[in-house]
Amino acid sequence: MQETKQQDSQFITVFSLVIGLLVAVAVVLFALARVVAAHTEDVQVYDDPLYVSTVDERTAPFAREAIAGKDNSALAIAAPAGAGPSIALAVPKNGKELFMQVCMTCHGPGLVGAPKAGDKVAWASAIAEGRSTLYQHALHGFTGKTGTMPAKGGRTDLPDALIQEGVDYMLSLVGQPLPAGEHFQ
Ligand code: HEC
Repeated sequence: MQETKQQDSQFITVFSLVIGLLVAVAVVLFALARVVAAHTEDVQVYDDPLYVSTVDERTAPFAREAIAGKDNSALAIAAPAGAGPSIALAVPKNGKELFMQVCMTCHGPGLVGAPKAGDKVAWASAIAEGRSTLYQHALHGFTGKTGTMPAKGGRTDLPDALIQEGVDYMLSLVGQPLPAGEHFQ
């Protein structure tokens, strides 16, 4: 009886020692892993150009859109400092491209009261105003019966001549002849 009690307490002592040792080893390994990670993982990840570029991509501002009736002058601001040329707004080559990139946002679906591109009825009153008035309205903005056309469709960074070509292109979609020398494939 006495002997088994002694064996029991001996066993418990050894057992606790072993457990304590294992815990100590685990703690040391954990600390070691943290130290190694601190010197390798962070540095590698945060310096990785691929990682950095995806962060830039994911934290870039959302697409910028012109909103009728609001001040859209902020659209003219160049890319944020340090963003590099990659997110600068593309400059369309001609009136058709301008239409595709800028004007179509509203004039494609007829958003916010914009006359739908190619819709002769919707464009009839505009056509009646004459081309030079339409140029002025497109360049400087215009509030009519159905809504507000923002100056240059919000892209005040673009040259006047290009905006006029955009007007010419939209007019050509409703059967108005293009001015001499202009053509869009
Ligand atoms: C944010 C929306 C929006 C964008 C983008 C936009 N327009 Fe408009 N546009 C309008 C609205 C709304 C009208 C109708 C105003 C009215 O007659 O009440 C309009 C009307 C016009 C008119 C007819 C003006 C008149 O006197 O009846 C022309 C021309 C025009 N837009 C050209 C353009 C061109 C060119 C672009 C691209 C550079 C463009 N728009 C981009 C909203 C837009």
